[in-house]
Amino acid sequence: MKKIIILGAGGLGRQALAQLQVDYGHGIDWVIAGFLDERGPETVSEALYYPWLGYPETFIPESDHYFVVAIGEPGSREKQVRLLLGKGAEFISVRTRCQLGARTQYGATFFGYDVSSGVDCQIGSYGFIDQETLIGHDVVIGDYVHIGPRCLLAGYVNIGRGVVINSGAMLARGISVGDGAVIGMGAVVFHDVAAGTTVVGNPARVIFSK
Ligand SMILES: CC(C)(COP(=O)(O)OP(=O)(O)OC[C@H]1O[C@@H](n2cnc3c(N)ncnc32)[C@H](O)[C@@H]1OP(=O)(O)O)[C@@H](O)C(=O)NCCC(=O)NCCS
Repeated sequence: MKKIIILGAGGLGRQALAQLQVDYGHGIDWVIAGFLDERGPETVSEALYYPWLGYPETFIPESDHYFVVAIGEPGSREKQVRLLLGKGAEFISVRTRCQLGARTQYGATFFGYDVSSGVDCQIGSYGFIDQETLIGHDVVIGDYVHIGPRCLLAGYVNIGRGVVINSGAMLARGISVGDGAVIGMGAVVFHDVAAGTTVVGNPARVIFSK
């Protein structure tokens, strides 16, 4: 049986662990092995009952390992995922209690509880989409994206690589968000957001641009 390794032992890592423990794959397709975290063994509390297995830089993936991404900061996430991919690591998607629409395709992204999507979406890899987010139909989401809980992405929204969408944000139909942009908590976005830009508020306004 394969062993799941959680990349990141912070809040998202602990959340991923709790979800993985009740996921339908647990004990059937895989068991949980522990965590990797670049900050060292002290990041994993004994109360979790799963060990710190090493640093992503030095850990050697084996053929019976699966990895899931649980790092919030996109730059750090991409750096560590790339390190492991370069050593042959295999990342998988987790979709506990999620309902993804017909013909929706997804890569090795972690979906929190009760995320749902409409039909014909394309969702990339190495992302983390937190619980109860609603994704409309025909939405495109790039790699390394982080979406907080209870966000709403209307139909035909297009999200670039490495974008962060904080909790409760809403994006209107057809909006495009450029690579590396940040959407503030609770923002209501009616216009396209350029790459590297931060927007907040309702209606969303730019507070930072490259
Ligand atoms: C995107 C975000 C990080 C921007 O924060 P920031 O760049 O540090 O912005 P600042 O705190 O410097 O605020 C700049 C201005 O925008 C306002 N602002 C910041 N975030 C805001 C938000 N989400 N909604 C409305 N206004 C906001 C501030 O009040 C400030 O306004 P002022 O200049 O009139 O005083 C922040 O909006 C956010 O979403 N924080 C949530 C983080 C979080 O909970 N993460 C968990 C992930 S699920």
